Amino acid sequence: MTASTLVTGGAGYIGAHTVRALRAADRPVVVLDTLELSTADAVLGADLVVGDIADEALVESVCRDHDVDTIVHFAAYKNVGESMAEPSKYFRNNVDGTVHLLDAAARAGVGQLVFSSSCSVYGTPDHVPVDESQRIAPESVYAETKAIVERVLHWYGVVHGLRSVSLRYFNAAGASFDSRIGEDWTYALNLIPVAIRALLTDGPPLQVFGTDYPTPDGTCVRDYIHVDDLAGAHIAAIDHLAGGGETTAVNVGTGVGSSVKQVLDGIEAVAGRPVPHELAPRRAGDPSSTYADTARAGTVLGWEPRYGLDEILDTAFRWHQQQYATTG
Ligand code: WQD
Repeated sequence: MTASTLVTGGAGYIGAHTVRALRAADRPVVVLDTLELSTADAVLGADLVVGDIADEALVESVCRDHDVDTIVHFAAYKNVGESMAEPSKYFRNNVDGTVHLLDAAARAGVGQLVFSSSCSVYGTPDHVPVDESQRIAPESVYAETKAIVERVLHWYGVVHGLRSVSLRYFNAAGASFDSRIGEDWTYALNLIPVAIRALLTDGPPLQVFGTDYPTPDGTCVRDYIHVDDLAGAHIAAIDHLAGGGETTAVNVGTGVGSSVKQVLDGIEAVAGRPVPHELAPRRAGDPSSTYADTARAGTVLGWEPRYGLDEILDTAFRWHQQQYATTG
């Protein structure tokens, strides 16, 4: 039997795109997802086990039954604001749940893991572009859980020989080019889904959080990375590990910063009408500018992004438009 990749959280936004990319590359995949914040149809027919990463007996039997040699670990809560209101929920699921997953994986002989980390582990960066040697200084419980799991992975490498790649994503955005999968805006608080919701629905206007930042147009600058590029980075990380590569952490961004105003102008260009918005005070905890130094992703993983803001906004808009037309 060909070895499989276990994708935890494979029905979620980035997970589903990665599952699809793995299958398109003819790599056997099994998904483990609770479906608490996702639906089964997002895996597009891939093998799906509904269950929790903390269920060690389940994880161990899935790994053995599917001859899993690599885990791609997405399953986690990701709402920064919620993490500050309910820290225990985040430490229990994102950290403790991962430790259970790793123990079960070690017993089943899984030797490789790709982890969904986050640029938020850097907090407010000392300088941009941000490279991987910058100080780890989380500014939220969510970000702290990502930083802790990176350290846990280091020690599971030392103790159990697990090799891992932590991918520190910048701002994941966009949808698949055929509009089959994307990020549901029901719970999303991120700029692009919220802006498109303001444009397509009768809901509230977008609030632009801060217009007096020390940036060219006064609004915050971020590095938006297309979700299909992110999926490709996971395949590159799996190949790095399969080739005997060492444990490492790598930024996954484009290296290009875009301001909130540039995003709104881009959405307006795709939609043909302006995004209803109002100027609002700064949001607490927002760094004024952050974008990736992508050199290490190129040298270590041989990966580079293919898409930019135009493809992100085009695919996101078309996907939301279709979703809204069918589900309201
Ligand atoms: C983008 C910009 C806002 C909403 C988040 C997580 C981070 C990481 C990446 C994963 C900011 C502005 C937003 C709105 C606005 N995730 N904005 N009005 O905060 O850069 O990063 O995703 O690990 O941990 O925090 O993303 O999309 O919320 O904001 O003006 O209604 O848009 O101020 O400048 P953020 P975002």
